[in-house]
Amino acid sequence: MRILLLAIFALTLTAQDILPEAKEKETFVKMCSNCHAIERVVKVRFSKKFWASTVDDMVSRGAEGTEEEVESVINYLTRYFGKPVNINTATAKQIEAGLSFKPAEVEALIKHRTDNGPIKTFEDLTKIAGLNAKLLDEQKNNIQF
Ligand code: HEC
Repeated sequence: MRILLLAIFALTLTAQDILPEAKEKETFVKMCSNCHAIERVVKVRFSKKFWASTVDDMVSRGAEGTEEEVESVINYLTRYFGKPVNINTATAKQIEAGLSFKPAEVEALIKHRTDNGPIKTFEDLTKIAGLNAKLLDEQKNNIQF
């Protein structure tokens, strides 16, 4: 029994070790590891929209958290387990769906891309007028060039 408990403890440790450190990590583990292994959750990559509906689905299955905690978990999953989108080659639709850009932001980006050629770095992206800095930060890991 003692060995079994130790083994379970060790497994839990490795599961949490693979997760990026962030203030939302604890909430994520608390909310999402009761019914299935956390690895099962983080082996997939989804857009924010899709994560939001997955978390909603899990809440309807019995996952427990306050509204704030639900928001934290969606933000954590979006930031670290989002779907990669190439900002230079993606279509307007892919940018809107994958990175949650508003239509006006997609338009600003495509115009910039068309007029000036490929965007090379994240810093260049943040200088484009009309893009939301908070959104860009949230999607930073998911943006490819
Ligand atoms: C109350 C139990 C419960 C909790 C808590 C829970 N889930 Fe689930 N989750 C399930 C069940 C049941 C399934 C399997 C559904 C199926 O097989 O169709 C599942 C499946 C999933 C899948 C699909 C995995 C796959 O292999 O297809 C993802 C992703 C997922 N959960 C994410 C989450 C996230 C994110 C959280 C935390 C917000 C969470 N789950 C918390 C019950 C739960």
